[in-house]
Amino acid sequence: MKVYKNAKLRHQSDLYDIWVDNDLIYDIVPTGSLEISAEEIDLNGNLVCEPYVESHIHLDYVYTSDIPEMATKSGTLFESIEKWSDSKKVLTIQDIKERAYKGIKAEMRNGVQYIRTHVDVTDPKLTALKAMLEVKEEMKDKLYMQLIAFPQEGYYAYDGGAQLVEEALKMGADVVGGIPHYEFTKELGEKSVKKAFELAQRYDKLVDIHCDETDDKESRFVENIAAEAYYTGLGSRATASHTCAMSTYNNAYAFKMMNKFRKSGINFISCPTENCYLQGRYDGYPRRRGITRIDQLVESGCNVSFAQDSISDPWYPLGNGNLIHQVDFGLHLGHMMTPEQINNGLDYITINGAKTLSITEGYELKKGNRASFIVLDAPSESEAIRERASVVLSVRNGKVLMKKEPEKILQDIF
Ligand code: FE2
Repeated sequence: MKVYKNAKLRHQSDLYDIWVDNDLIYDIVPTGSLEISAEEIDLNGNLVCEPYVESHIHLDYVYTSDIPEMATKSGTLFESIEKWSDSKKVLTIQDIKERAYKGIKAEMRNGVQYIRTHVDVTDPKLTALKAMLEVKEEMKDKLYMQLIAFPQEGYYAYDGGAQLVEEALKMGADVVGGIPHYEFTKELGEKSVKKAFELAQRYDKLVDIHCDETDDKESRFVENIAAEAYYTGLGSRATASHTCAMSTYNNAYAFKMMNKFRKSGINFISCPTENCYLQGRYDGYPRRRGITRIDQLVESGCNVSFAQDSISDPWYPLGNGNLIHQVDFGLHLGHMMTPEQINNGLDYITINGAKTLSITEGYELKKGNRASFIVLDAPSESEAIRERASVVLSVRNGKVLMKKEPEKILQDIF
């Protein structure tokens, strides 16, 4: 038995002790109220919460921005896709695995224990998928992973794209991807969404589609995703990632759709740093931000999570896998800074992300569940977000995955 003493739990003012019996949470009680002989770890009033969930990243692309052929001139999404298309042929399974492991380590050092990664399957050899299937298997004791069969160059814009997605699902991908705004026509975009849901039903998979990642206010594939999720009954097993164009829709249309989104049950993912960097690139000034209607979606009862998307790839040259940065940016760009919105800020990278991944049981920090949690170097949610606090301890199934020294000031100013 181990006891993690003096833990500050989310939305609580008192301190608690978390008792861990092997891989399970034996109990969570007010500090000092249970006396059993156990190894003691003092958390000194630091905030403890569920592990971070990375709901949208491309681990097969990470750290590729240093490849000269990948550099873009315009910084736009569409030029990045073209650069990737030309250059990805040189990547090998070993190369992709090495970069992916570096990305996984960066994320896990920052408290992530769950990752949903897109994997580009518009490649006749399915090299990236083979690499990521190996990584998933090799990491299974330390990390929960979902792989998305993602046709970066389209179901139909890429010859054989739809067949490659299906092949990837047969090989073991967990989620059906898509990119309707990149297909040649609106009709083909709609057809690709329909196809994604057909495949999800046939192979019993989840759906997560790159959707309306553009400033084009005519891009409305999110309504197709909501309708398909509603009529197929897939509901919350489906997700619309990005939905940047929603920020440019007229309010009458957006207002009508909010209820439909809630009714459909679909999840939304916003990638604040990436979306605001890639969108608005054709605008000059005034310049749009490319951030979906986070506040209105939340007010309407929809599930929204925040994610990293890229670490140093042709789409986004920065990024470090530290999801609390996405919370900070998301709250800024979403105009969401009431005390309640700040106190709920960590939801976007914890419980909301878990909902998106359809993790329905065992995630929450509570008695009887798996002893998986993280400790932040901060005493409260607001301080954690304001200071972008480090994760100093990550425990998974009762075992310490990662431990860090908190920041130390060796000589102070006064
Ligand atoms: Fe993405």
